[in-house]
Amino acid sequence: MTDKSYSPGLEGVIAGESALSRIDIDINRLILHGYDLVELTENASYEEVAYLLLYGELPTAAELAAFNQQLRSQRDLPGPVVDLLRSAPADAHPMDLLRTAVSSLAFFDAETPDNSHDANVRKSVRLLAKIPTALAYGYRFSQGLEPVAPDAELDHAANLLFMLRGEKPPAYEVEAMNTSLILYAEHGYNASTFTARVVASTLADLYAAITAAIGALHGPLHGGANEAAMHMLLEVDSPAAAEQWVLDALAQKKKIMGFGHREYKSGDSRVPTMKKVGRQIAAAIGDTKWPDLADVVEATMMREKGIFPNVDFPCAYTYYMMGIPIPLYTPIFVASRVVGWAAHVIEQHDANRLIRPNHIYTGPDHRAFVALSERG
Ligand code: ACO
Repeated sequence: MTDKSYSPGLEGVIAGESALSRIDIDINRLILHGYDLVELTENASYEEVAYLLLYGELPTAAELAAFNQQLRSQRDLPGPVVDLLRSAPADAHPMDLLRTAVSSLAFFDAETPDNSHDANVRKSVRLLAKIPTALAYGYRFSQGLEPVAPDAELDHAANLLFMLRGEKPPAYEVEAMNTSLILYAEHGYNASTFTARVVASTLADLYAAITAAIGALHGPLHGGANEAAMHMLLEVDSPAAAEQWVLDALAQKKKIMGFGHREYKSGDSRVPTMKKVGRQIAAAIGDTKWPDLADVVEATMMREKGIFPNVDFPCAYTYYMMGIPIPLYTPIFVASRVVGWAAHVIEQHDANRLIRPNHIYTGPDHRAFVALSERG
């Protein structure tokens, strides 16, 4: 049976409303609450963008100072969540650790069951503050290292790098991290955000919705692509080998990770900014191997398939050049996107209707029941 309204993968289906972001296809730019994302990356901090998504306006200087103070004072994790991260198997994937940590944070938040607008905003700020700590603690425990406590002197991007390494990062790395966090913050009804909205639409709480969203982001067709793309680039290994590698992969009908996008057919609007950052990091470390190699992969994909890279591609090799361990790439995506998810959960709860689509039945027609003793 077919139905004209059915669109596999829900491609092109309008599944709801949102005031948070849209892709302006005329200029191929992502617009957050009216502001051009590229302009935000050039002029704002991640915290300003997070404030914009949670409160609907860019903060004044005083509002930003108060927001920063709130964030920095709420970075610590409850002791049992630290114990949970400490006791996890060393080979647990950091995304599994983070998903479990976020889920367990619900136990220690007195406002967990309160879906009112104000309580949701307060919980979002707490989660935004705590996720980098959970990410960094989980990682350090897995390496047999003691955790590095958050530093209230440092902003979101710098503190994240500091807690991973135990050393203050150079300014150019903080800038690169800040930009990638802004680029990852929000992107409409993508798979993980839609997951969060579906969960929220049952009137489940914000922690439940964000735990589910982390699960959805992990897959390599979504956020997990930044890790998968880096594994692929490591396999290619040299710019000279890149063209043939892509040709061979395509001949074997392999998907090239970090390429393609459901919404962008003429290139992901976030890529030029992230590629620029990648080049800046390459210049700072004095080695352009990875962006050079990536450019050959990109040109070959364009020539052979007409498919553009998505933001995960330049993010992958940029993080690699910054020495960030590959299994942390998707968790860093979480540390940014949590604010987009939270803003969508707030929108959903503020004007809720259960999300419950239909399906086309493909099973057998009516069948006569056969008693257990007669089945053979
Ligand atoms: N490598 C090779 N071929 C590709 C790629 C790719 N990365 N992406 C799409 N194609 C091809 C498909 O094989 C298909 O070809 P066909 O029509 O000959 O079968 C055609 O382009 C359409 O691709 P679909 O997978 O149907 O497109 P869809 O919109 O369903 O999927 C997706 C989008 C999942 C992003 C896809 O492009 C993909 O798998 N990319 C690789 C994973 C990736 O990078 N994901 C990150 C997305 S961005 C983000 O989450 C931040």
